[in-house]
Amino acid sequence: MTLLHQPALIDKRRRIVEFCLKQKVLLTRELVERLNDQAVVDAACAIIEGPDPAVWTLMDMLRPSIAPPGITAQQARDIAEFPVKIVWDYDDKASKRSLQDFVGYFNARYTRLSKMLRQRADLQSATSIGRVVASKERQPVAMIGMVSGKDVTKNENLILTVEDPTGTIKVLVNKQKQEVFTLANDIVHDEVIGIIGTNSGNGMVFANTMIYPDIPHIEIKKSPEEVYAVFLSCVHVGSTRFLHDAFDKFLKWIRGEHGTDAQRAMASKVGYVIVMGDTVDGVGIYPNQEKELLIKDIYAQYAEAARLFSQIPRHIKIILSPGNHDALRLSEPQPKLFKDYAKPFWEMPNVIMTGNPAVINIHAKDGFPGFNVLTYHGFSFDDYSEIVPSIKNSGRNCSERTPLIMKFLLQRRHLAPAHTSTLYVPDPRYDPLVIEQVPDVFAAGHIHKAGADSYRGVTIIACSTFQAKTDFQERVGHEPDPGKVPVLNLQTRKIHMLKFGDA
Ligand SMILES: [Fe+2]
Repeated sequence: MTLLHQPALIDKRRRIVEFCLKQKVLLTRELVERLNDQAVVDAACAIIEGPDPAVWTLMDMLRPSIAPPGITAQQARDIAEFPVKIVWDYDDKASKRSLQDFVGYFNARYTRLSKMLRQRADLQSATSIGRVVASKERQPVAMIGMVSGKDVTKNENLILTVEDPTGTIKVLVNKQKQEVFTLANDIVHDEVIGIIGTNSGNGMVFANTMIYPDIPHIEIKKSPEEVYAVFLSCVHVGSTRFLHDAFDKFLKWIRGEHGTDAQRAMASKVGYVIVMGDTVDGVGIYPNQEKELLIKDIYAQYAEAARLFSQIPRHIKIILSPGNHDALRLSEPQPKLFKDYAKPFWEMPNVIMTGNPAVINIHAKDGFPGFNVLTYHGFSFDDYSEIVPSIKNSGRNCSERTPLIMKFLLQRRHLAPAHTSTLYVPDPRYDPLVIEQVPDVFAAGHIHKAGADSYRGVTIIACSTFQAKTDFQERVGHEPDPGKVPVLNLQTRKIHMLKFGDA
């Protein structure tokens, strides 16, 4: 008698399928066929009726092998051993903030960035602004301050208002002094800068040059072996515009089932998938969003997203952080995805959760220090596209400016220097949006257009999306390129832009 004619086993099979459906996981035909095997059915029932019935433990058991085509089980096991370390992730508990916390937060930012600036030869003997104001002599001056105002005079010169804990002063930047004027023209509110100039002796400094905290040139590290990191963002599962077919092609590629021989060879050496938020489209993110939602329930969105991501072979680590469409607070740093909403992801054994932003280290092994990757969703980027003249006037469409913005932020050593560019947690202990360590890779999303660049040894990666152009993007003139995925060869540091689907 076949299994299909054994009532007890039929009942067990039904319980397994119902358990999966309850967890919003639809079994593929291949996995249903595995339930023709009595030993598999018994093992599956032991999981779903055991003390910790996790759907992904069940899925893992049902899959016959962790190795996709083109890769041996041993190779898959070796890749599964590749290390991921969370170097920095914001860990503070949410709490009510007071006005004093904002004061402390900006003081902490000033203290940290002025310390970085003071390492520069020209600023080692920087004078406090209080002393500059008090001095009535016309003399050369070096000082460090936070910009609280930026105005244009009728002669088209710039006047910056700059402050430190000891006082406030005006800085005149003459438009005839082209070099310093160009630097000053890009300055945004609340950034911390060094100024070299002449004190007029009556409460004004004439600027000769401006110094950003900036990053030093760093060594371009290369992995001793050929291994790839895939960068994803803004998949937007749940949206009516989610490009299911394109994402399915991506999943097929990473499983070694799609693409040219070279592309499939690349897939077999992927060790990391790094995801910078907006994995789901979310619910109630903007007015009338429900009209643009295929899946209107946030739990169901995460379940469907996890079902899709679970098709990435289990030997590949998935590092998952949130964005502004995810179901948590907007204020940055955002914490890890909540266990309640994103439970199916938390249950996946190869998913590592981080907040936004975060610094992770990948591929440290055999005396090789690995790569520090700064991940940031990119919510602040929209503002810099418009308020920084050299970026706005770069001749690029607003969607193509992301690498310029990321370079700008590395120079400022801050992910969102202007107070208004993002929502933030005013932590008075330290400013968590300061770029403390110089990363090897700086990766972000949010703008839905892939791009890449490098700056002083840092690889800059802007991710695309798997969502077709939205009405909002149409209105603001964005040109997304869905389905494009940057893949970084950690051995050569070359970025391959793969394209899935034709949207
Ligand atoms: Fe976003």
